[in-house]
Amino acid sequence: MPKPNPFTPKSGWEPKIFAGRKDEFKFLDKKLEEARNGRSDHFLVLGEWGIGKTSVLKEFKRIAQDKGFISSMITVREFRKTEDLTDAVEHLVETIPSKLPLDLNKLKKFLSQIDSLGIQVLGTGFQLSRTTERMDPQTFLLRCLHVLWDDLKDETDVLLVLLDDVQNFDRVSEIFTLIKNVLSDEEIVKTGYLFALSCTPEGWSKFMQLHHPIGRYFTPRLTLKRLSGEECYHVIDRTLEETGVVFEEKIKEKVYEYTEGHPYELQVLCSNLYDNGIKGRVTLDQWSPALNETLLNLGEMVWDAMYNGASEQERKVLYAVASLDKPSSRKEITNFIEVCDLGLSGSVVGVLLGRLLEKGLLAKPDKYQYGLVDKLFREYILRYRGYDGSGAVLG
Ligand SMILES: Nc1ncnc2c1ncn2[C@@H]1O[C@H](COP(=O)(O)OP(=O)(O)OP(=O)(O)O)[C@@H](O)[C@H]1O
Ligand SMILES: [Mg+2]
Repeated sequence: MPKPNPFTPKSGWEPKIFAGRKDEFKFLDKKLEEARNGRSDHFLVLGEWGIGKTSVLKEFKRIAQDKGFISSMITVREFRKTEDLTDAVEHLVETIPSKLPLDLNKLKKFLSQIDSLGIQVLGTGFQLSRTTERMDPQTFLLRCLHVLWDDLKDETDVLLVLLDDVQNFDRVSEIFTLIKNVLSDEEIVKTGYLFALSCTPEGWSKFMQLHHPIGRYFTPRLTLKRLSGEECYHVIDRTLEETGVVFEEKIKEKVYEYTEGHPYELQVLCSNLYDNGIKGRVTLDQWSPALNETLLNLGEMVWDAMYNGASEQERKVLYAVASLDKPSSRKEITNFIEVCDLGLSGSVVGVLLGRLLEKGLLAKPDKYQYGLVDKLFREYILRYRGYDGSGAVLG
Protein backbone atom coordinates (compact mmCIF):
# COMPACT_ATOMS: atom_id res chain seq x y z
CA MET A 1 0.00 0.00 0.00
CA PRO A 2 1.39 3.45 -0.86
CA LYS A 3 1.89 5.72 2.15
CA PRO A 4 -0.46 8.73 2.51
CA ASN A 5 0.75 11.99 1.04
CA PRO A 6 2.95 13.63 3.72
CA PHE A 7 2.91 17.18 2.30
CA THR A 8 0.60 19.89 3.67
CA PRO A 9 -0.93 21.80 0.76
CA LYS A 10 -3.28 24.03 2.77
CA SER A 11 -2.69 27.24 4.62
CA GLY A 12 -2.62 26.68 8.37
CA TRP A 13 -1.69 22.98 8.02
CA GLU A 14 1.30 22.26 10.13
CA PRO A 15 4.22 21.07 7.99
CA LYS A 16 5.54 17.62 8.78
CA ILE A 17 9.03 19.11 8.66
CA PHE A 18 9.43 22.68 9.75
CA ALA A 19 12.51 24.32 8.19
CA GLY A 20 14.46 27.48 8.91
CA ARG A 21 13.28 30.43 11.03
CA LYS A 22 16.27 30.07 13.36
CA ASP A 23 16.74 33.86 13.61
CA GLU A 24 13.06 34.27 14.45
CA PHE A 25 13.37 31.71 17.26
CA LYS A 26 16.44 33.48 18.65
CA PHE A 27 14.50 36.71 18.54
CA LEU A 28 11.63 35.11 20.46
CA ASP A 29 14.03 33.80 23.11
CA LYS A 30 15.32 37.31 23.63
CA LYS A 31 11.82 38.83 23.84
CA LEU A 32 10.70 36.16 26.34
CA GLU A 33 13.77 36.84 28.48
CA GLU A 34 13.15 40.59 28.40
CA ALA A 35 9.49 40.06 29.30
CA ARG A 36 10.50 37.83 32.20
CA ASN A 37 12.66 40.71 33.42
CA GLY A 38 9.72 43.09 33.32
CA ARG A 39 10.29 44.74 29.94
CA SER A 40 7.78 43.44 27.42
CA ASP A 41 8.61 44.52 23.90
CA HIS A 42 5.43 43.64 21.98
CA PHE A 43 6.22 42.84 18.36
CA LEU A 44 4.92 42.20 14.88
CA VAL A 45 5.45 39.33 12.43
CA LEU A 46 4.92 40.40 8.83
CA GLY A 47 4.64 38.08 5.87
CA GLU A 48 2.87 37.72 2.53
CA TRP A 49 0.22 35.03 1.93
CA GLY A 50 1.39 31.50 2.62
CA ILE A 51 4.88 32.46 3.76
CA GLY A 52 4.42 30.68 7.11
CA LYS A 53 3.01 33.20 9.61
CA THR A 54 0.61 30.75 11.25
CA SER A 55 3.24 28.02 11.34
CA VAL A 56 5.83 30.27 12.94
CA LEU A 57 3.35 31.48 15.57
CA LYS A 58 2.47 27.88 16.40
CA GLU A 59 6.17 27.16 16.88
CA PHE A 60 6.45 30.27 19.08
CA LYS A 61 3.72 28.91 21.32
CA ARG A 62 5.46 25.58 21.59
CA ILE A 63 8.86 27.12 22.32
CA ALA A 64 7.41 29.41 25.00
CA GLN A 65 5.56 26.55 26.69
CA ASP A 66 8.62 24.35 26.51
CA LYS A 67 10.36 26.97 28.62
CA GLY A 68 7.47 26.88 31.07
CA PHE A 69 5.71 30.06 29.90
CA ILE A 70 1.99 29.93 29.20
CA SER A 71 0.81 31.04 25.76
CA SER A 72 -2.47 31.63 23.96
CA MET A 73 -2.65 31.78 20.17
CA ILE A 74 -5.77 33.03 18.44
CA THR A 75 -6.72 33.70 14.84
CA VAL A 76 -8.42 37.05 14.48
CA ARG A 77 -11.76 36.61 12.73
CA GLU A 78 -13.16 38.89 10.05
CA PHE A 79 -15.52 41.67 11.09
CA ARG A 80 -18.67 42.93 9.40
CA LYS A 81 -19.21 46.58 8.54
CA THR A 82 -21.83 46.86 11.26
CA GLU A 83 -19.49 45.63 14.00
CA ASP A 84 -17.55 48.00 16.21
CA LEU A 85 -14.74 48.20 18.75
CA THR A 86 -16.79 46.48 21.44
CA ASP A 87 -17.20 43.47 19.16
CA ALA A 88 -13.47 43.41 18.51
CA VAL A 89 -12.68 43.56 22.23
CA GLU A 90 -15.25 40.86 23.00
CA HIS A 91 -13.60 38.67 20.40
CA LEU A 92 -10.28 39.05 22.23
CA VAL A 93 -11.83 38.50 25.65
CA GLU A 94 -13.62 35.37 24.46
CA THR A 95 -10.78 33.78 22.54
CA ILE A 96 -7.59 34.59 24.49
CA PRO A 97 -8.65 32.69 27.65
CA SER A 98 -10.21 29.85 25.69
CA LYS A 99 -6.91 29.14 23.93
CA LEU A 100 -4.91 28.86 27.13
CA PRO A 101 -3.49 25.42 27.88
CA LEU A 102 -5.52 25.31 31.10
CA ASP A 103 -8.93 24.36 32.36
CA LEU A 104 -11.11 27.48 32.19
CA ASN A 105 -12.44 26.76 35.68
CA LYS A 106 -8.99 27.66 36.96
CA LEU A 107 -9.58 31.26 35.91
CA LYS A 108 -11.64 32.04 39.00
CA LYS A 109 -10.98 35.79 39.23
CA PHE A 110 -11.46 36.29 35.53
CA LEU A 111 -14.77 34.45 35.54
CA SER A 112 -16.02 36.33 38.57
CA GLN A 113 -15.02 39.65 36.96
CA ILE A 114 -16.96 38.71 33.84
CA ASP A 115 -19.88 37.77 36.05
CA SER A 116 -19.77 41.04 37.99
CA LEU A 117 -19.94 42.98 34.72
CA GLY A 118 -23.26 41.32 33.97
CA ILE A 119 -21.77 39.09 31.31
CA GLN A 120 -22.42 35.38 31.16
CA VAL A 121 -20.28 32.69 29.73
CA LEU A 122 -22.31 30.56 27.35
CA GLY A 123 -21.95 26.85 26.71
CA THR A 124 -18.84 24.75 26.92
CA GLY A 125 -16.78 27.04 24.72
CA PHE A 126 -16.33 30.61 25.68
CA GLN A 127 -18.92 33.04 24.44
CA LEU A 128 -20.10 36.10 26.21
CA SER A 129 -23.68 37.23 26.58
CA ARG A 130 -24.55 40.62 28.02
CA THR A 131 -27.39 41.44 30.31
CA THR A 132 -26.33 45.00 31.15
CA GLU A 133 -25.22 48.09 29.22
CA ARG A 134 -21.99 47.74 27.29
CA MET A 135 -19.04 49.38 29.02
CA ASP A 136 -16.23 51.36 27.46
CA PRO A 137 -14.27 48.80 25.40
CA GLN A 138 -10.84 49.98 26.51
CA THR A 139 -11.73 49.72 30.19
CA PHE A 140 -13.30 46.34 29.53
CA LEU A 141 -10.18 44.91 27.91
CA LEU A 142 -7.94 46.43 30.57
CA ARG A 143 -9.92 44.91 33.41
CA CYS A 144 -10.19 41.52 31.78
CA LEU A 145 -6.48 41.29 31.00
CA HIS A 146 -5.66 42.45 34.48
CA VAL A 147 -7.71 39.82 36.30
CA LEU A 148 -6.63 37.14 33.87
CA TRP A 149 -3.04 37.89 34.85
CA ASP A 150 -4.04 37.67 38.52
CA ASP A 151 -5.29 34.16 37.88
CA LEU A 152 -2.13 33.12 36.05
CA LYS A 153 0.73 34.95 37.74
CA ASP A 154 1.57 32.03 40.02
CA GLU A 155 1.72 29.68 37.05
CA THR A 156 3.90 31.68 34.65
CA ASP A 157 6.34 34.59 34.50
CA VAL A 158 5.33 35.51 30.98
CA LEU A 159 1.97 35.18 29.22
CA LEU A 160 2.66 35.12 25.49
CA VAL A 161 -0.41 36.18 23.48
CA LEU A 162 -0.17 35.47 19.75
CA LEU A 163 -2.72 37.18 17.48
CA ASP A 164 -2.64 35.65 14.01
CA ASP A 165 -3.98 37.52 10.95
CA VAL A 166 -4.61 40.93 12.49
CA GLN A 167 -5.27 42.28 8.97
CA ASN A 168 -8.77 40.89 9.65
CA PHE A 169 -9.28 43.83 12.03
CA ASP A 170 -9.49 46.14 8.98
CA ARG A 171 -13.10 47.14 9.66
CA VAL A 172 -12.37 47.92 13.32
CA SER A 173 -8.85 49.22 12.93
CA GLU A 174 -9.06 51.55 15.96
CA ILE A 175 -8.52 48.34 17.93
CA PHE A 176 -4.76 48.81 17.52
CA THR A 177 -4.77 52.13 19.29
CA LEU A 178 -6.91 50.55 21.98
CA ILE A 179 -4.56 47.56 22.39
CA LYS A 180 -1.60 49.93 22.53
CA ASN A 181 -3.31 52.03 25.22
CA VAL A 182 -4.14 48.94 27.26
CA LEU A 183 -0.66 47.42 26.96
CA SER A 184 1.00 50.68 27.95
CA ASP A 185 -1.28 51.16 30.95
CA GLU A 186 0.68 51.03 34.19
CA GLU A 187 -1.41 48.15 35.50
CA ILE A 188 -0.57 45.98 32.51
CA VAL A 189 3.08 47.08 32.20
CA LYS A 190 3.60 45.52 35.65
CA THR A 191 2.35 42.13 34.43
CA GLY A 192 4.08 39.53 32.25
CA TYR A 193 2.05 39.93 29.05
CA LEU A 194 3.97 39.73 25.80
CA PHE A 195 1.92 40.28 22.63
CA ALA A 196 2.98 39.25 19.11
CA LEU A 197 0.78 40.10 16.12
CA SER A 198 1.01 38.59 12.65
CA CYS A 199 -0.13 40.55 9.61
CA THR A 200 0.26 40.77 5.84
CA PRO A 201 2.45 43.69 4.72
CA GLU A 202 -0.41 45.24 2.66
CA GLY A 203 -2.75 44.94 5.64
CA TRP A 204 -0.25 46.59 7.95
CA SER A 205 0.55 49.44 5.58
CA LYS A 206 -3.19 50.20 5.33
CA PHE A 207 -3.40 50.47 9.13
CA MET A 208 -0.30 52.66 9.13
CA GLN A 209 -1.93 55.12 6.75
CA LEU A 210 -4.88 55.42 9.12
CA HIS A 211 -3.15 55.33 12.50
CA HIS A 212 0.56 55.86 12.00
CA PRO A 213 1.61 56.27 15.68
CA ILE A 214 0.79 52.60 16.35
CA GLY A 215 3.51 51.66 13.88
CA ARG A 216 6.10 52.97 16.30
CA TYR A 217 4.59 50.99 19.13
CA PHE A 218 4.54 47.60 17.40
CA THR A 219 8.20 47.51 16.57
CA PRO A 220 10.37 45.50 16.34
CA ARG A 221 9.15 43.66 13.29
CA LEU A 222 10.07 40.30 11.93
CA THR A 223 9.58 39.90 8.20
CA LEU A 224 9.30 36.28 7.14
CA LYS A 225 11.33 35.44 4.07
CA ARG A 226 11.22 32.55 1.63
CA LEU A 227 13.18 29.42 2.52
CA SER A 228 16.71 28.94 1.19
CA GLY A 229 17.58 26.20 -1.30
CA GLU A 230 19.12 24.13 1.45
CA GLU A 231 16.02 24.50 3.61
CA CYS A 232 13.78 23.45 0.70
CA TYR A 233 15.82 20.32 0.03
CA HIS A 234 15.75 19.55 3.73
CA VAL A 235 11.92 19.82 3.81
CA ILE A 236 11.53 17.59 0.75
CA ASP A 237 14.01 14.89 1.86
CA ARG A 238 12.83 14.70 5.45
CA THR A 239 9.13 14.84 4.53
CA LEU A 240 9.63 11.90 2.16
CA GLU A 241 11.45 9.82 4.78
CA GLU A 242 9.64 6.58 5.57
CA THR A 243 7.24 6.98 2.64
CA GLY A 244 9.36 4.86 0.32
CA VAL A 245 8.93 7.56 -2.35
CA VAL A 246 11.92 9.27 -3.95
CA PHE A 247 12.07 12.55 -5.90
CA GLU A 248 14.81 12.62 -8.52
CA GLU A 249 17.52 15.26 -7.87
CA LYS A 250 16.43 17.21 -10.98
CA ILE A 251 12.89 17.40 -9.63
CA LYS A 252 14.05 18.83 -6.32
CA GLU A 253 16.09 21.45 -8.15
CA LYS A 254 13.08 22.42 -10.23
CA VAL A 255 10.87 22.70 -7.15
CA TYR A 256 13.26 25.25 -5.69
CA GLU A 257 13.72 27.03 -9.03
CA TYR A 258 9.97 27.51 -9.52
CA THR A 259 8.82 28.16 -5.95
CA GLU A 260 11.87 30.22 -5.00
CA GLY A 261 11.47 28.84 -1.48
CA HIS A 262 7.87 29.93 -0.92
CA PRO A 263 6.69 27.38 1.69
CA TYR A 264 3.07 27.20 0.60
CA GLU A 265 3.93 26.83 -3.09
CA LEU A 266 6.53 24.22 -2.17
CA GLN A 267 3.99 22.14 -0.23
CA VAL A 268 1.34 22.30 -3.00
CA LEU A 269 3.82 21.46 -5.76
CA CYS A 270 5.45 18.59 -3.81
CA SER A 271 2.04 17.25 -2.87
CA ASN A 272 1.06 17.08 -6.56
CA LEU A 273 4.41 15.55 -7.51
CA TYR A 274 3.94 12.91 -4.82
CA ASP A 275 0.47 12.03 -6.13
CA ASN A 276 1.87 11.58 -9.66
CA GLY A 277 4.75 9.28 -8.68
CA ILE A 278 5.06 5.90 -10.38
CA LYS A 279 6.27 2.91 -8.39
CA GLY A 280 7.72 5.18 -5.72
CA ARG A 281 9.67 7.42 -8.10
CA VAL A 282 9.01 10.96 -9.20
CA THR A 283 10.96 11.91 -12.33
CA LEU A 284 10.90 14.71 -14.91
CA ASP A 285 8.04 12.90 -16.67
CA GLN A 286 5.79 13.92 -13.81
CA TRP A 287 6.88 17.56 -13.75
CA SER A 288 4.47 19.03 -16.26
CA PRO A 289 1.21 17.46 -14.99
CA ALA A 290 2.15 18.29 -11.38
CA LEU A 291 3.00 21.88 -12.29
CA ASN A 292 -0.30 22.37 -14.14
CA GLU A 293 -2.24 20.97 -11.23
CA THR A 294 -0.32 23.26 -8.85
CA LEU A 295 -1.09 26.36 -10.92
CA LEU A 296 -4.79 25.46 -10.89
CA ASN A 297 -4.74 24.83 -7.12
CA LEU A 298 -2.93 28.07 -6.36
CA GLY A 299 -5.17 29.92 -8.82
CA GLU A 300 -8.25 28.73 -6.98
CA MET A 301 -6.81 29.32 -3.51
CA VAL A 302 -4.99 32.62 -4.00
CA TRP A 303 -4.49 34.13 -7.44
CA ASP A 304 -7.97 34.10 -9.02
CA ALA A 305 -9.18 36.64 -6.48
CA MET A 306 -6.12 38.83 -7.09
CA TYR A 307 -6.30 38.49 -10.87
CA ASN A 308 -10.03 39.18 -11.02
CA GLY A 309 -9.31 42.58 -9.48
CA ALA A 310 -7.38 43.59 -12.61
CA SER A 311 -9.15 45.52 -15.42
CA GLU A 312 -9.13 44.41 -19.05
CA GLN A 313 -6.28 46.82 -19.86
CA GLU A 314 -4.29 45.84 -16.78
CA ARG A 315 -4.54 42.19 -17.83
CA LYS A 316 -2.87 43.00 -21.13
CA VAL A 317 0.01 44.65 -19.29
CA LEU A 318 0.30 41.67 -16.93
CA TYR A 319 0.47 39.38 -19.95
CA ALA A 320 3.17 41.51 -21.54
CA VAL A 321 5.25 41.49 -18.34
CA ALA A 322 4.79 37.72 -18.05
CA SER A 323 5.77 37.16 -21.67
CA LEU A 324 9.04 39.04 -21.30
CA ASP A 325 11.03 36.40 -19.51
CA LYS A 326 12.89 38.72 -17.11
CA PRO A 327 11.98 41.91 -15.24
CA SER A 328 11.70 44.68 -17.83
CA SER A 329 11.60 48.44 -18.10
CA ARG A 330 8.48 50.40 -18.97
CA LYS A 331 9.94 51.00 -22.42
CA GLU A 332 10.48 47.29 -23.10
CA ILE A 333 6.96 46.51 -21.91
CA THR A 334 5.49 49.26 -24.11
CA ASN A 335 7.46 47.95 -27.11
CA PHE A 336 6.13 44.44 -26.57
CA ILE A 337 2.57 45.75 -26.38
CA GLU A 338 3.06 47.71 -29.62
CA VAL A 339 4.58 44.79 -31.49
CA CYS A 340 1.74 42.52 -30.39
CA ASP A 341 -0.82 45.16 -31.26
CA LEU A 342 -2.54 45.07 -27.88
CA GLY A 343 -3.75 48.65 -28.38
CA LEU A 344 -2.29 50.55 -25.41
CA SER A 345 -0.22 53.71 -25.67
CA GLY A 346 3.00 54.31 -23.71
CA SER A 347 1.46 56.80 -21.28
CA VAL A 348 -1.46 54.47 -20.54
CA VAL A 349 0.99 51.62 -19.90
CA GLY A 350 2.75 53.84 -17.32
CA VAL A 351 -0.50 54.40 -15.42
CA LEU A 352 -1.46 50.72 -15.61
CA LEU A 353 1.94 49.62 -14.31
CA GLY A 354 1.42 51.88 -11.29
CA ARG A 355 -2.00 50.39 -10.60
CA LEU A 356 -0.71 46.84 -10.89
CA LEU A 357 2.00 47.64 -8.37
CA GLU A 358 -0.61 49.01 -5.97
CA LYS A 359 -2.73 45.88 -6.39
CA GLY A 360 0.25 43.70 -5.51
CA LEU A 361 0.19 41.94 -8.91
CA LEU A 362 3.51 43.35 -10.03
CA ALA A 363 6.74 43.93 -8.16
CA LYS A 364 9.65 46.26 -8.83
CA PRO A 365 12.88 44.36 -8.22
CA ASP A 366 14.70 47.66 -8.85
CA LYS A 367 13.82 51.26 -9.60
CA TYR A 368 13.20 50.86 -13.34
CA GLN A 369 12.20 47.22 -13.74
CA TYR A 370 8.83 45.55 -13.45
CA GLY A 371 8.24 41.83 -12.96
CA LEU A 372 5.55 39.44 -11.74
CA VAL A 373 5.41 39.00 -7.97
CA ASP A 374 6.29 35.38 -8.27
CA LYS A 375 7.56 32.88 -10.82
CA LEU A 376 4.62 30.49 -10.48
CA PHE A 377 2.20 33.40 -10.80
CA ARG A 378 3.94 34.24 -14.08
CA GLU A 379 3.41 30.66 -15.30
CA TYR A 380 -0.22 30.85 -14.22
CA ILE A 381 -0.80 33.95 -16.35
CA LEU A 382 1.00 32.50 -19.36
CA ARG A 383 -0.72 29.11 -19.19
CA TYR A 384 -4.19 29.89 -17.89
CA ARG A 385 -4.99 33.58 -18.24
CA GLY A 386 -3.38 34.86 -21.43
CA TYR A 387 -3.94 38.52 -22.31
CA ASP A 388 -7.68 38.66 -21.65
CA GLY A 389 -8.21 36.44 -18.63
CA SER A 390 -9.61 33.47 -20.52
CA GLY A 391 -6.28 32.01 -21.56
CA ALA A 392 -6.06 33.60 -25.05
CA VAL A 393 -2.46 33.89 -26.24
CA LEU A 394 -0.90 35.67 -29.17
CA GLY A 395 0.11 33.46 -32.07
N1 LIG B 1 9.06 26.71 7.96
C1 LIG B 1 8.33 25.91 7.18
N2 LIG B 1 8.85 24.76 6.70
C2 LIG B 1 8.10 23.96 5.91
N3 LIG B 1 6.83 24.21 5.56
C3 LIG B 1 6.27 25.34 6.01
C4 LIG B 1 6.98 26.24 6.85
N4 LIG B 1 6.18 27.27 7.15
C5 LIG B 1 5.01 27.01 6.54
N5 LIG B 1 5.05 25.86 5.85
C6 LIG B 1 3.93 25.30 5.03
O1 LIG B 1 3.54 26.34 4.14
C7 LIG B 1 2.13 26.47 4.06
C8 LIG B 1 1.72 27.85 4.50
O2 LIG B 1 2.02 28.03 5.87
P1 LIG B 1 1.14 28.95 6.84
O3 LIG B 1 -0.29 28.59 6.76
O4 LIG B 1 1.79 28.93 8.15
O5 LIG B 1 1.38 30.39 6.15
P2 LIG B 1 0.60 31.74 6.43
O6 LIG B 1 1.57 32.83 6.15
O7 LIG B 1 -0.02 31.70 7.77
O8 LIG B 1 -0.52 31.67 5.31
P3 LIG B 1 -1.84 32.56 5.15
O9 LIG B 1 -1.37 33.83 4.50
O10 LIG B 1 -2.70 31.74 4.25
O11 LIG B 1 -2.41 32.74 6.52
C9 LIG B 1 1.56 25.34 4.91
O12 LIG B 1 1.31 24.28 4.05
C10 LIG B 1 2.68 24.97 5.85
O13 LIG B 1 2.60 23.60 6.17
MG1 LIG C 1 -2.03 31.91 8.31
